[in-house]
Amino acid sequence: MRTPILAGNWKMYKTVGEAVELVEGLLAGLEHGAAGREVVVCPPFTALYPLSALLAETPIALGAQDMYPEVQGAFTGAISPVMLKDVGCRYVIIGHSERRQLFGETDESVNRKLKAALAHGLKPIMCVGESKPQRDSGQAEPVVVGQVRAGLEGLTAEQMQSLVIAYEPIWAIGTGDTATPADAQAMHAAIRATLVELYGSEVAEGLRLQYGGSVKPDNIDELMAQPDIDGALVGGAALKADSFLRIVKFQ
Ligand code: PGA
Repeated sequence: MRTPILAGNWKMYKTVGEAVELVEGLLAGLEHGAAGREVVVCPPFTALYPLSALLAETPIALGAQDMYPEVQGAFTGAISPVMLKDVGCRYVIIGHSERRQLFGETDESVNRKLKAALAHGLKPIMCVGESKPQRDSGQAEPVVVGQVRAGLEGLTAEQMQSLVIAYEPIWAIGTGDTATPADAQAMHAAIRATLVELYGSEVAEGLRLQYGGSVKPDNIDELMAQPDIDGALVGGAALKADSFLRIVKFQ
């Protein structure tokens, strides 16, 4: 059984005060626990430390949105996996399409970051997803499967147990244009088939695949009803307590 994992990617939103307010709202809504679901929030770096104290011993885990794949050194502006562990992060998003498009992230840098995150006990959420032109030209599946293969290069079956993969079609992110549950399911099945090929069925069946891209309270239930969708990576709808709580409490 795969425990559903609902993660909020807050992107570059929320000051410390706003982040604390949002988390207080989420904790109030989850006072009876998260009923067999794993809940993660990924605020900006500046809010990690204050939130880690608030989230200790609660059903919500803390995650970061990116990291640099070195322990320490002369890397101005970068944050290391050791630093993320130090402030209480359990998860880290790696290779989000905004990082790939705006910050030059590649499959190779994603692979280095995955290895560094895992080496320091962080659980990576690796993001993959095709662009609109790639989907329109029938290339969505080979593009996504290629990203999965390249990103996972050299990772062991044991390391895969700490990994989550998020399928986020770029054209669905922040657009209100969600993939249909059937299209999302088809891609998730293709990703899982690739994992079977790479690591065998036991590892592949245990690994959680999130869908991301305009996940909202009104589409989460049908997405989560798909057999290979094990969670969601949520942007805009994770910025308000009531909408993220509704997503966490999908039926
Ligand atoms: P969205 O973002 O839910 O606002 O579409 C998802 C993401 O980028 O992770």
